[in-house]
Amino acid sequence: MYPASNLTAPRPMMNPDGAPSSSDWSLAPSKVHLNHGSYGSVPRAAQEYQLELKARMEANPCTWFMGQYNAVAAARTDVAAFLGVEAQDVALVQNASAGISAVYNSLALAPGSEIVMTNHAYGAVLHGAYRVARKHGGRVRVAEVPLDADAVTATSLVMAEVSDRTALIVVDQITSATARAFPVEAIAEAASAMDVPVLVDGAHAPGIVELPVPSFDGFWVGNLHKFACAPRGTAALVARGERAGTLTPLIDSWGFPHSFPENFDHVGTQDVTSWMAARKSFDTISERYGWETFRTYATALCDYGESLISTAFADLTGQDHTVEVGMPVGPMRLLRLPEGLATTHEDSHNVRAFISEELDIESAVTTFNGEGFLRLSAHLYNSPKDFEIFAGIAVPELVRLARSL
Ligand SMILES: Cc1ncc(COP(=O)(O)O)c(C=O)c1O
Repeated sequence: MYPASNLTAPRPMMNPDGAPSSSDWSLAPSKVHLNHGSYGSVPRAAQEYQLELKARMEANPCTWFMGQYNAVAAARTDVAAFLGVEAQDVALVQNASAGISAVYNSLALAPGSEIVMTNHAYGAVLHGAYRVARKHGGRVRVAEVPLDADAVTATSLVMAEVSDRTALIVVDQITSATARAFPVEAIAEAASAMDVPVLVDGAHAPGIVELPVPSFDGFWVGNLHKFACAPRGTAALVARGERAGTLTPLIDSWGFPHSFPENFDHVGTQDVTSWMAARKSFDTISERYGWETFRTYATALCDYGESLISTAFADLTGQDHTVEVGMPVGPMRLLRLPEGLATTHEDSHNVRAFISEELDIESAVTTFNGEGFLRLSAHLYNSPKDFEIFAGIAVPELVRLARSL
């Protein structure tokens, strides 16, 4: 018997053939999968289509690679339509990290320049900023934004770090460790008044936010291989305005005579069938379920899971495990772990590995300001049972682990 929630469980999602939605994915049934937020999962239809493309590539690599440039341009148009942006404003890249590195590399930083980030930034993105700042004798300024800061507070804390030395503001649309949104439109507007460029790290946004790219003349990067379910290695870099012209791809190839985004369409001899199969993922979700159905269902599942798991923790610890997050997100949530667990980045990896290896549950464990959190996420293939198993099996084990420290 699993712990109870105050909320009624949503009805498990079925596909149009009347089978559980999970049968449209190929996730191993030996594990519970509650971490779409980290790596995403690709519907079978898109996996199969990508395999077909790979077979065509291997049947005649010469023809394939000679025609690849046109196929990439077509894939870019499909991605632009999904994101609701002009194809001329978007380039395809392997992942959010690649898009962000391309923006970092495009900066003409004068000595003493500063990059403004927040304490919620993704670790690798922050380290990339340190690399660029070091190279140019500049520095990174980190705005300390409390977990529960609302949009107005978050905007003013970020803008308080901006000065005439600021070369770039990097802000997350949806944060990784803390599963909260940031007011990217308001920050972009305030930055534009000071003529400071903004890079929005929208790694998690496509699929969660219907039209994720803010209407601004800046840089935006989003992963299509997370909530949008595209095959791995598919992300978009959107750039508008005159700064778009400063962007060059990470790989120098035959796109060099072109400007953004065509220069990014040439990636040398590289398998980019994931880009070409991305539309199959978008269409599979929209035709079999609908993107709005995904958002509503995943939000309802997370509401249920959050209530169930926080109650299960509280019953054992007597503490409140809910977290007041400013600007919460539908399909991703944060819960406080029992005291002492995952208080460092390394510990959070160990706790996650314990839950995966010993309990057969894939989950996300994060650390923020020296406190450990459980980050929940849900997609169409999840069902209330997944959260019930976490509450019934992982919660008592995590409480036991914390007591043993
Ligand atoms: C906020 C954020 N930015 C960037 C990334 C990097 O994404 P990728 O590893 O696909 O490059 C992630 C990955 O989870 C992320 O959560």
